[in-house]
Amino acid sequence: MAKRPAFVQEGVDLKPLNTLAIAARATYFARVSDTDSLREVLAWQRAASLPLLLLGGGSNVVLRGDWHGLVLQYGDNTVSLHERDGDDVLVRAGAGVVWHELVCYCSAQGWHGLENLALIPGSVGAAPVQNIGAYGVELDSLVDSVEVVKLASGMTATLSREQCQFGYRDSVFKNRAAGQYLITAVTLRLTSQFCPVLSYPALRDALPCENPSPQQLIDTVVAVRQSKLPDPARLPNAGSFFKNPVVPAQQAAQLLEQYPAMPHYPAAAGQQKLAAAWLIDRAGWRGKALGPVAMHDKQALVLTNPAGGSGAQVLALAERVAQDVLAQFGVALEIEPQCVGGDHG
Ligand code: EPU
Repeated sequence: MAKRPAFVQEGVDLKPLNTLAIAARATYFARVSDTDSLREVLAWQRAASLPLLLLGGGSNVVLRGDWHGLVLQYGDNTVSLHERDGDDVLVRAGAGVVWHELVCYCSAQGWHGLENLALIPGSVGAAPVQNIGAYGVELDSLVDSVEVVKLASGMTATLSREQCQFGYRDSVFKNRAAGQYLITAVTLRLTSQFCPVLSYPALRDALPCENPSPQQLIDTVVAVRQSKLPDPARLPNAGSFFKNPVVPAQQAAQLLEQYPAMPHYPAAAGQQKLAAAWLIDRAGWRGKALGPVAMHDKQALVLTNPAGGSGAQVLALAERVAQDVLAQFGVALEIEPQCVGGDHG
């Protein structure tokens, strides 16, 4: 049996690493920042046949219970200018960089494109997994490539944007390649020409002027987010708890006959994307609690856990909400954060 690397800790409380703040423990925990240590710990984990959980900032993870295995965080927090190509600026960020810090740093350097994604919780390494997006910008439009380590072999590889197979809150890392890679760095294609995306009405309405500076745009995005979305450090939450559902155009048209004010947006293949927050709100769940957990009163899509409810209590509320939305609107909601641990592994 391979020897346990000295930097692997035993019996670690995961609560401080999870923004839903659910009490759970990991049998083993390691944070590494270089690929040599990563290979060492992966070789030990494979030899010991331990289940592996990769954790970024823990901001989009529901811990159903303890993790009977190894929890691994990759902490490379370097940012470097990779290449300039005309107005394009290629910036490489380590997986451990705090996302919001990257947004502010790049914008201050004159490398633009990330401003609308300010204040999204989590780390750079987690961002491509769910293809984060907000206020009219989705990460995939800015990704050049993603560096990974293959968990089975410890070999490195670089995936192009196409190979990442991005979709709405979706990527190859959630599907075909789930459990195969650890993301070590992301290279973004930004631009030295600031062309603000102001298509999102709530953002446009909140801007101090028609032609905002990069900093004014960041400040406005931060203010809009803070007015609706609770700070995970003060009120534990994992952001949107459900994806916005995509339904056939015919189903959307039928719903619109009954609910003419229902928000709806064009989606791929002629389908329509509905606002899960609106459906949950109309189903009566905004601000409503079930035991110690509740749907947020300012944004019905956010599930909050103020009193430290368990993973099971979080999921019980999510199930009740989804059942009521299905019964009232005939629309199935899909949970957005990753649910791990407990008896389900
Ligand atoms: N609405 C309600 N009730 C509410 C909240 C919203 O009726 O309690 C209505 C709004 O009036 C609006 C619609 O629902 O017409 C959509 O709401 P909002 O504009 O707040 O955006 P969202 O679709 O709920 C998405 C992302 C957020 C992102 C915002 C801004 C998803 C699952 N969520 O929310 O991302 O910040 O747009 O771009 O796509 C996240 O993924 O964790 C996240 C916070």
